[in-house]
Amino acid sequence: MSEGERLTELAKRRGFYFPAAGAYGGAAGFWTYGPQGAALKSNVEDAWRDRFVVREGHQEISAPDVMPEPVFEASGHLDGFDDMIIECAECGATHRADHLVEDNTDIEEAESLPNEEVMDIIADHDIACPSCHASLAGEPVDNFNLMFETNIGPGTSSPGYLRPETAQGIFVEFPQLSEYARNQLPFGVAQIGKAYRNEISPRKSLVRVREFTQAELEHFVDPEEDEPPLSEVEDVILPLYSAESQQADDGGVEHLTVGEAVADGVVTSDWVAYYLGVAKGWYERIGVDMDRFRFRQHLPGELAHYASDCWDAEAEIDGDWIEITGFAYRGDYDLEKHAEHSGEDFTVFKQYDEPVTVERPTVDPDMSYLGPEFGGDAQTVADALEALAERNPEAFDGDEVTVEVDGDSFTVPVAETNFSVEEVTENGEHVRPHVVEPSFGVGRLVYTVLAHAYTEDEVDGEERTYLDLPPEQAPTTVGVFPLMDKDGMADYAREIAGALREAGHSVTYDDSGAIGRRYRRQDEIGTPYCVTVDYESLEEDTVTLRERDSTDQKRVSIDGLAETLERLTEGETTFDAL
Ligand code: GAP
Repeated sequence: MSEGERLTELAKRRGFYFPAAGAYGGAAGFWTYGPQGAALKSNVEDAWRDRFVVREGHQEISAPDVMPEPVFEASGHLDGFDDMIIECAECGATHRADHLVEDNTDIEEAESLPNEEVMDIIADHDIACPSCHASLAGEPVDNFNLMFETNIGPGTSSPGYLRPETAQGIFVEFPQLSEYARNQLPFGVAQIGKAYRNEISPRKSLVRVREFTQAELEHFVDPEEDEPPLSEVEDVILPLYSAESQQADDGGVEHLTVGEAVADGVVTSDWVAYYLGVAKGWYERIGVDMDRFRFRQHLPGELAHYASDCWDAEAEIDGDWIEITGFAYRGDYDLEKHAEHSGEDFTVFKQYDEPVTVERPTVDPDMSYLGPEFGGDAQTVADALEALAERNPEAFDGDEVTVEVDGDSFTVPVAETNFSVEEVTENGEHVRPHVVEPSFGVGRLVYTVLAHAYTEDEVDGEERTYLDLPPEQAPTTVGVFPLMDKDGMADYAREIAGALREAGHSVTYDDSGAIGRRYRRQDEIGTPYCVTVDYESLEEDTVTLRERDSTDQKRVSIDGLAETLERLTEGETTFDAL
């Protein structure tokens, strides 16, 4: 059994996750988190919120899942959020063409190749349809938009889309959010919420699904002035697989500190480097195995339409590298597009310390000349002259000036433009912030943490499976058992379970079956500690406390048990030190 299959079997049996709506045959790409999975997911989200929102001093919002079409026209998703699809002429099944190439050749990241090249590779390798095994050679490779479309209200006049990334819910609200931040850059806005993509081929349980949770941070910065607190992470060692290494014959992962990666220009954005450093420590905290982890830079053809640079955090499972987070430098792409499409102001006014006097080139074109000369184009020519004066005042140095409008050239005598340079006093300027975006897929994190925690060993001659989840992440902190359901042991154990819940611990009470089986059940869901109430408990007010990984047991007082468990789960003490 592969690692993924083993995990999916355990996940279903023990209540982590399972295919949704099974009673009706289900729908590929939709999963329900069971009690253990929902608790684990929520612990991962809490840990993310703690590290990327609270400790960074950012704000969190919650925007709608459905947004009107103009949002996605502006963001570029309507036109460009496509994957490559190929349809089998024999059985009609559709497949993701780039994945077929990756699965059947040595080519990695086929997504970065043009459609025609992917079509040629499919033909050259005579790649067959995975469903019916007919040849796919010669079948066209098309673009398929991944957004789920819906109608807002009755009728079809107001199309809307389920958001394919939570980020757009932050970008469209920028004017309002900027006010909340008192128009002071830099500031960060985060969101944990659902995103939806109509994936062509959902696969590997939680890895490629059609509805998933993202935890995204949009950090708005002044590209001229703001710098990240790099010194806080400069010594963190990053396993970096750069685009250059990926393209070189002998390239591999380089281990550089954040400081070295920036100094050597391997990571070009200081902000991206900062977040790689912060995230590395966080992945370790939630239980990602650092021996199965790397940061991989996107190849040029692989970059999303909005990104100028992007590094993915990837975790290895079953020999495959799975993208768990994207760290993108989005520049001002999104804010510029939303400003252009909505007509609203998506800038921040930056007040100068002192007013400054600047030279401002202006034009005041003579319309009584432009009108007869250029007819219907006169106003566009006037606008183009104004833009040119701002951009390149030297163009007005001669007797004539030429502007390009929609591919046509218009030449105007400089005298008719009334070009002049005025001195004006300015108190500040409008800055369009750049965006640095760490974007985490929560389901993939849950999957990775579970896969990396899965451990098999032998206890008392018997095989055992357990999840060595960090105590802080485990869905259940403590299992409480009576040794036997008699002589008041069960009542006492229930009382202890209640007191531990009252103290804020996540507790499972279990009195069914042999004690060894109860331990195994908790081991399999990663419960770090178990408490057993026995005869001695009734006489001495003590219990046995058992640690999951070592299976060692200690006798501890019931008085102070809740605090002991808290110190253990928070890492303030160790089981050995008790
Ligand atoms: N706002 C940027 C953005 O959405 P992305 O790389 O497309 O970037 C970010 O997605 C993260 O969301 C990925 O790193 C991955 O963890 C997760 N993700 C993306 N598509 C997914 C899918 N179909 N199923 C599960 N998780 C997905």
